[in-house]
Amino acid sequence: MTRLSDKVALITGAASGMGAATARRFAAEGARVMIADLQEEAGSALADELGDAGLFARCDVSIEEDVANAVTVAADRWGRIDCMFNNAGFGGAIGPIDETSAEDFDITMDVLVKGVFFGMRHAAPIMKRQGGGSIVSTASMAARIGGWSPHLYSAAKAAVIALTRSVALEMGEWDVRANCISPGVIETPLAVGRGFTPEAIERFRSETEGQQALNRVGDPDDIAHCAVWLASDESTFVTGQDIVVDGGFSAGRTWRRQPPWMRQAHPIKVYRPPGR
Ligand SMILES: NC(=O)c1ccc[n+]([C@@H]2O[C@H](COP(=O)([O-])OP(=O)(O)OC[C@H]3O[C@@H](n4cnc5c(N)ncnc54)[C@H](O)[C@@H]3O)[C@@H](O)[C@H]2O)c1
Repeated sequence: MTRLSDKVALITGAASGMGAATARRFAAEGARVMIADLQEEAGSALADELGDAGLFARCDVSIEEDVANAVTVAADRWGRIDCMFNNAGFGGAIGPIDETSAEDFDITMDVLVKGVFFGMRHAAPIMKRQGGGSIVSTASMAARIGGWSPHLYSAAKAAVIALTRSVALEMGEWDVRANCISPGVIETPLAVGRGFTPEAIERFRSETEGQQALNRVGDPDDIAHCAVWLASDESTFVTGQDIVVDGGFSAGRTWRRQPPWMRQAHPIKVYRPPGR
């Protein structure tokens, strides 16, 4: 018996990065997985790799019909949807606020917020009918900590957390759970950029590791493990939560980056009132 035996999952943004890692983990744990992504070649190749457990649908999450179609195809093929993982994303508009246009805003929010909303909206009726399900969405530590991501990206990911909490409160009536995962710095094409070449990965590691308590950058599998848990029956009393998977980044400044006076042991100076 594996952890996701007999479960059906739909993962958006599953052709790359943490979505692809999650698709592989889900399948290894016994789930059947719909891979919904813009990237046809990579998405189809991953579906082929998963054999009978994999299916691909070309899907732009900012287009409601595409999301509805992916949900319908998966539910028709396998009869249910136990986990909807709204994971697709991109960096969105980057730059100073006074140079960010209304169009930049719409394009960013259409993918990062509306895409999540569409996933929830179309999975909800099926999960209500089944009397259960797990909605998981990818937020980000950028929702909580400023200065590491573009303005609109941070705002969009904060919206994902708020939407998750709100939907969890409604869908609990049907035993449907809604949670999100806030990754920290994870080594994927999105975060590494620059073509995801070995040199780019090396530079990315040297620039970013050491910034969190655990002295390495995150691996897509770190997120996949959390997603498996949220999709499984091991987390059936967990809903409305944002699970932070960031190696301790959001905990604060690491010990190795503290100023020397913090790292040195000093004799404790105890205050004693006069006369004692
Ligand atoms: N990598 C990080 O450090 C990090 C940190 C926090 C949050 N995130 C979030 O994690 C999620 C996954 O990103 P990743 O790092 O694995 O990046 P990635 O680029 O490897 O994967 C993202 C996938 O989403 C797909 N995608 C993008 N726009 C889409 C659209 N409109 N419709 C359908 N698919 C679309 C891409 O084709 C790609 O396959 C994103 O939501 C991202 O914002 C990433």
